[in-house]
Amino acid sequence: MNIIRKNFIKFCLKIILGIAITMTAVSILASFLYQNLFYDYIQTNTEKEISAILDSVNLSSSILMQNNDFYDLQRMTESIGASGFIKEITIYDKNKNIIASNIIFNESDGLHTENLDNLFSGRKLKYIKSDFSSDTLVMAIPVNGSRYSIINNNDITGVIYIKSDIGSIKGLLMNLNNSFLKTEFIIVILLLLCIIGIVTFSLFIPASKLYKAAQAVSEGDYSYHVDESKGREFYPLIKEFNNMTKKIKTRDEELKLLHDKLKGHNENLEIKVNKRDMELKLTQDITIRSLAYLAETRDNETGSHIFRTQHYVETLAEYLKDNPKFSKVLTQKNIELMFKSAPLHDIGKVGISDSILLKPSGLTKEEFEIMKKHTIYGRETIEKSEKFIGNKSFLSFAKEIAYSHHEKWDGSGYPEGLSGEDIPLSARIMAISDVYDALVSKRPYKKAFTHEEAVRIILEGDGRTSPEHFDPDILSAFSKIHHKFNEIYNNHPDGE
Ligand SMILES: [Fe+2]
Ligand SMILES: [Fe+2]
Repeated sequence: MNIIRKNFIKFCLKIILGIAITMTAVSILASFLYQNLFYDYIQTNTEKEISAILDSVNLSSSILMQNNDFYDLQRMTESIGASGFIKEITIYDKNKNIIASNIIFNESDGLHTENLDNLFSGRKLKYIKSDFSSDTLVMAIPVNGSRYSIINNNDITGVIYIKSDIGSIKGLLMNLNNSFLKTEFIIVILLLLCIIGIVTFSLFIPASKLYKAAQAVSEGDYSYHVDESKGREFYPLIKEFNNMTKKIKTRDEELKLLHDKLKGHNENLEIKVNKRDMELKLTQDITIRSLAYLAETRDNETGSHIFRTQHYVETLAEYLKDNPKFSKVLTQKNIELMFKSAPLHDIGKVGISDSILLKPSGLTKEEFEIMKKHTIYGRETIEKSEKFIGNKSFLSFAKEIAYSHHEKWDGSGYPEGLSGEDIPLSARIMAISDVYDALVSKRPYKKAFTHEEAVRIILEGDGRTSPEHFDPDILSAFSKIHHKFNEIYNNHPDGE
């Protein structure tokens, strides 16, 4: 159920409640008016009627009593008593004796004597008792003989007592009241239906349409159009709403057009950036390769050694990147840079004279000291290249590797004798890769060891190489993935 329908139901309930309260108030007011005004009116008129009967009876009684015609007097009371709402009519003589009545009295019955004295004493008390709340109205009148008797001038000859039954009149009033309430109820129901009908057609239906339209627009359907022919009270609002959606639709289309243009622009820009990026990488690769080939021309090591060592480095780095100790440094970008930088590890050899570098037999102590300097020359060469190309970041690993790849974990390496984690990670990975490849390669001064022999020498030592030379974590990684080193060597053996 949507919000408009809920509000409409609430609205109708409020109208019903309001009308119910009004109906109750009107009914209470009507009853009050009947009780207090209409009843009083009826009472007064009833009293007047009885009074007229009394006057009439008074005239007749006066004559009949003077003529002592008690027979006709009795007949008159019986005739009046039979007429309807007079319950009792009793005529007393001046000695307070009943001389005629429509009812039969026993001796023990009260004879209304309590007020008779007042009447007979000449007071002009017309009403002895008038109580409309009960069903009886009691009145009495003295019979004044003066108008009809010369003998008893100004003398009271008797009293006429009347007790009337007004229950039937009250019943009539109640019926009138009930029929009024029924009419009132029907009118109120019709009024209620009219109000609900007007509200439905003038407010609820147009408001529901607008609500549906607003929902459609908020969901992106800007082509939604509200029918303007219905709901005239809402016509200006519906018209403005339709204008608004029309404008939104136009703007949306413009925006989509702009978006498409921008997308095309971005794609172009992305292509250009990618192209630049590739150009930059190519420049990096060319720079590194140029330096590496420079080293190669001075060394007796082959292109295969350079190729293999960079793949050993990559293989170890890929394995170690999952270790939390190394994951921060070994990002995919850095692994790629290490891979590219590995061929430059012996670039410093360009600064070593051929007589030492190409010497087929073992080096003297002095010659070895000179040989050690290839690490320092390597760093210097890369630093000079960095100044030339003006981009330091991609050569930083090359610099670390060239300078520290002969450092050993236990501090027995060169050029600085660094130990443990003071040695850059890239150089520690390079060190084990370089040693493995030197062991499995043939050199003028040594034969090529088999893979198994090389692994054993690295893990157990042979006097010249010792496990303490390597980072224990990297050594452990090597012990697990050395078969991959073997695959790399077999795929790119010397002499290629
Ligand atoms: Fe070296
Ligand atoms: Fe090397």
